[in-house]
Amino acid sequence: MASGQIDIRGVSKTFQVDGRPLVALERVDLDISAGAFITIVGASGCGKSTLLRMIAGLERNHRGEIRHGGQVIAGPSLERGLVFQEPRLFPWLTVAQNVALGLENAKVSGETRRRLVAEHLALVGLTGFAQAYPRQLSGGMAQRAAIARALVNRPGILLLDEPFGALDAMTRAHLQGELQRIWAHEGITAVLVTHDVDEAVLLGDQVVVMAPRPGRIAEIFPIDAPRPRDRKDEDLIRLRNAVLEALDAIKDEAPRSAVPH
Ligand SMILES: Nc1ncnc2c1ncn2[C@@H]1O[C@H](COP(=O)(O)OP(=O)(O)OP(=O)(O)O)[C@@H](O)[C@H]1O
Ligand SMILES: [Mg+2]
Repeated sequence: MASGQIDIRGVSKTFQVDGRPLVALERVDLDISAGAFITIVGASGCGKSTLLRMIAGLERNHRGEIRHGGQVIAGPSLERGLVFQEPRLFPWLTVAQNVALGLENAKVSGETRRRLVAEHLALVGLTGFAQAYPRQLSGGMAQRAAIARALVNRPGILLLDEPFGALDAMTRAHLQGELQRIWAHEGITAVLVTHDVDEAVLLGDQVVVMAPRPGRIAEIFPIDAPRPRDRKDEDLIRLRNAVLEALDAIKDEAPRSAVPH
């Protein structure tokens, strides 16, 4: 399996919007050790998806450096699996064929390909649905198929951008448990962006709180509660409240770009 260490050093990213510069990220430093589970929260527009896309290798032209296993990230790679809010499955392919797309560039025999797809369908609990089409899946099942596709190439890193945001509360809670199990089983590094502070605290070894205008890291909360975790655990509830307070404090700050110089 690929290494899961990520080093983010002095990363800034500016977009041009209507001919004016928009600082999406300013001087972000973050070390993510191999096997860690990092969760990222912050107001809409604070650069969470931009940071994740940069780790994925989908955003270029930034300042600073992002390394994966010591190598500077120069573009997308199947060594870094990606899951978005919507499953992004191809409707004309079966579930098994969709998952096999995660092996598209991998040099593996047909036999190995079939075995890896079957193993990863089993990992996400979709064994009976290999030949089904995406329209025959529930939202939660489709999202599991997307997770299987991201994992099938055995990446060192799993990047998730609000993967459960569109699901009902019960399915969401169930998949949070499943994701913890898969992460522990695969020994993978996970970086998950979420709007749900409960989810961030439940899953993360560290909760990274970001602030907007300009997008930056405001605070990092270590969460060392033992696993498997219980969302009703009093320590977790205390930490959830501390993260919510940090987010509230950020909300009350004047945007820096609106302060006259
Ligand atoms: N391709 C782009 N071109 C121009 N501006 C962009 C682009 N992508 C993102 N931005 C801007 O960068 C900032 C950060 O966007 P980003 O999508 O990273 O936020 P986010 O924290 O993921 O928000 P949300 O919680 O709403 O998903 C926003 O102001 C957005 O308008
Ligand atoms: Mg986003």
